[in-house]
Amino acid sequence: MKTYKIPIIAGDGVGPEVIAEGKKTLEATGRMYGFDIEWKEYPYGAEHYLATGELLSEDALKELSDYRAIYLGSVGDARVPPGVLERGILFALRFYFDQYINLRPIRLLEGVETPIRDKGPADIDYVVVRENSEDLYVGVGGRVKKGSVHRDADVTRNLYNVKFGLDIDSDSDEIAYQLGLISAEGTKRIMRYAFELATRRGRHLSSVDKMNAMTDIYGFWRQIFTETASRYPEVKTDFNLVDAMTMWLVKNPEWFDVVVAPNLFGDIITDLGAMVQGGLGLAPGGNINPKGTSMFEPIHGSAPKYKGLNKVNPIATIWAGAMLLESLGEMQAANGVMNAIQRNLRERKVRTFDLGGSSTTSEVGSDIARYVESPHRSD
Ligand code: IPM
Ligand code: MG
Repeated sequence: MKTYKIPIIAGDGVGPEVIAEGKKTLEATGRMYGFDIEWKEYPYGAEHYLATGELLSEDALKELSDYRAIYLGSVGDARVPPGVLERGILFALRFYFDQYINLRPIRLLEGVETPIRDKGPADIDYVVVRENSEDLYVGVGGRVKKGSVHRDADVTRNLYNVKFGLDIDSDSDEIAYQLGLISAEGTKRIMRYAFELATRRGRHLSSVDKMNAMTDIYGFWRQIFTETASRYPEVKTDFNLVDAMTMWLVKNPEWFDVVVAPNLFGDIITDLGAMVQGGLGLAPGGNINPKGTSMFEPIHGSAPKYKGLNKVNPIATIWAGAMLLESLGEMQAANGVMNAIQRNLRERKVRTFDLGGSSTTSEVGSDIARYVESPHRSD
């Protein structure tokens, strides 16, 4: 039998609880579709950092390069200053493995209410392709007090290396700055991916930017979008300023099929999308490098106040597991997981508090795993 080796970083907060249900479901899927899974657990997260001072080890990164897909719970913990785990683990993984696509399906499944009046599953079904390696996320910034200083910074990627040398001379009491970077290579590849995806879906691609206010960075983005569009005449295109986009995504979600966005705007509109699809408990994401190591996660974060309560919805993580299977080429198995999630939601019986139920995380996971193995059961 085929065996997949899948590394797991369960991480912080509710990460371990939801990952446990993801494992349960994917193991059931393997039994059903004829493959074994060998999990390899990594300890990274707040606990490990507080105990050892280590965020990720160079050895672990090398080891992880041998795998095609990592299953991630979530990182983030109030005992660690904001940004340390995010930068040291989440971004470190995204950037090290050059997971330049952050793929986030926004789809209202049957049996789930959307807060948007008069909209249903037929209206809410699009995919956000969020650029995942550039923009204001490159980590070049700092604070400078009155006076003159020189600062060096660099952005190291598989595609390019950029060094900045900044001479700062300021008479403000203190300034903070953050540089955004968009490259031709990085933007072309995300556009290509988005156009290819649109070609396979509804042939409509919408781009997001803010080129009226930040003409350099987002003017470049829009230019590359337009240039790429000329090679895909069968795909209908439009571009949208991000502020207007948040309005359209609430008012007319049915207009959208594939949305391509720079990193920061993609981050923002996918939380909006998560609410529209029924809540963060239902929102998965894939950090994808089509030729390397990808990583799949629920987008909800560590939700520390629910940690250990067996309360939160595991569906985002299980759905991320379906995306993981898809990335391994296990299409049937991935569909099997989606059908099982859909069955659970349509029945409206075994559901967590966010969906108005009183079932636990593990009860929902078990219910979905059972549907995977017996798709036609009717109890
Ligand atoms: C996400 C998250 C992260 C991001 C945070 C935790 C740094 O919001 O994956 O959307 O901004 O990318
Ligand atoms: Mg986010």
